[in-house]
Amino acid sequence: MDLVQVHDRAFKPFISAQEIEEMVQKIANTINADFASEELTALVIMKGAMFFASDLLRKIHVPVKVETLRAHSYGDNMLSSGSVFIPESVADLSGQNVLIIEDIVDTGTTIAELIKHIAGQTPKSITVAALLSKPQMHSQVLSIDYVGAEIPPAFVVGYGMDYAGYGRGLDAIYVVVEPEPTT
Ligand code: IMP
Repeated sequence: MDLVQVHDRAFKPFISAQEIEEMVQKIANTINADFASEELTALVIMKGAMFFASDLLRKIHVPVKVETLRAHSYGDNMLSSGSVFIPESVADLSGQNVLIIEDIVDTGTTIAELIKHIAGQTPKSITVAALLSKPQMHSQVLSIDYVGAEIPPAFVVGYGMDYAGYGRGLDAIYVVVEPEPTT
């Protein structure tokens, strides 16, 4: 098995580049059908969603404007901090079909806070596309409109997602190798 070392931890292959491509294509097909006669404003949540968004947006064939926003709930470790920092004000989204593009939904705090933040601007609609979701970790009921795959509650890196700032550039997704328990 090809392990990769990211910062101080080992990770093993989890979702291949080809599987990612298929997941992204499937999401794009659904979005193209759902918004066939509409326009979209994509709100890309940086930095984690940048790879997913860049592939997804090239497969979306309805008129789409792109905005970015930084939000983080993780520090340098593998646990969601439970609070979300949204540093910038978002572009004017009133009356628009906002598609939030997120890399991964863990507790759901980030996505719930973002939806609350954006809803205040009275957009026409808000939908969420997340490449991955960890349903067992959700701390509230969430409506994620487009999900590439649901995964168990394990920490992953690659394809935009980082561990302590590293690993985003991996073209596949890897899952952390838990250390052997010491007896
Ligand atoms: P939530 O607010 O707990 O849902 O956390 C969502 C954010 O935490 C995502 O946008 C990611 O930036 C980060 N995150 C959650 N799970 C992982 C993971 O397994 N690997 C890397 N980042 C993650």
